[in-house]
Amino acid sequence: MHNRISHRIYEIVKNIPHCNYFVEIGCDHGYITYLVHLNKIADHIIAADISLPSLRKCQNLFDNDVKNISFVQSDGLKNIPEDKCEVCLMAGLGGAEIIKILQEGYFPKTLVLQPMKDAKKLREYLEQNRYSFIIDKVIKDIKFYDLIVAKKGDEIISLTEMQKSFGVFYYLAQKELIEKLKFKKNNYEAKFNTMPNINKADKLLNEYNLICKFLSENK
Ligand SMILES: C[S@@+](CC[C@H](N)C(=O)[O-])C[C@H]1O[C@@H](n2cnc3c(N)ncnc32)[C@H](O)[C@@H]1O
Repeated sequence: MHNRISHRIYEIVKNIPHCNYFVEIGCDHGYITYLVHLNKIADHIIAADISLPSLRKCQNLFDNDVKNISFVQSDGLKNIPEDKCEVCLMAGLGGAEIIKILQEGYFPKTLVLQPMKDAKKLREYLEQNRYSFIIDKVIKDIKFYDLIVAKKGDEIISLTEMQKSFGVFYYLAQKELIEKLKFKKNNYEAKFNTMPNINKADKLLNEYNLICKFLSENK
């Protein structure tokens, strides 16, 4: 196993709730699933990946005689029984890919999600499908990542534009969120200076203005 577990992986694992049945969709190298096993976070584990070579990488981390783990080649949730999927982790995939997997599969009771992009779309999708947000925060590693933990319920929630864009608990002004938004603001400003197409710039302006509003309120 790699001798340095990244801060991203450490934070993901730390925020996975203890459960009976844990599934990681897109396990790849297997470090997250391995740490879930090592830390006894789940009684039963399924590591899944669409790619067989990726699945094998994960499987190679474990002793052959380990009893409570299955390795399943699966496109999303397609080969994962719903009653064996209590807490479902999808990390390192795009937000749109995560949405597609849920649309083509089912809604696990608890989702732990670390989308690489399109976090806003993902929050909107979870809102529409009546998930309530337990955790929504920024992880700072080499890059900034969103980490969302959400539970399926019946309650209708209505997120504001700021919550959709920056995280449901943005108003707590997490240090990492402020750093991320300062970084984004600088990037936008650099883009605006070089952008020849005013219509394109207009599209970005909405989020830029929201970022400025948030940062001016959280100095
Ligand atoms: C970047 S790796 C993420 C590994 C690990 N989850 C992490 O966060 O470090 C993405 C993995 O997702 C797998 N993957 C992509 N689409 C998938 C799908 N529809 N179903 C299952 N696995 C998928 C890829 O094969 C790849 O191994």
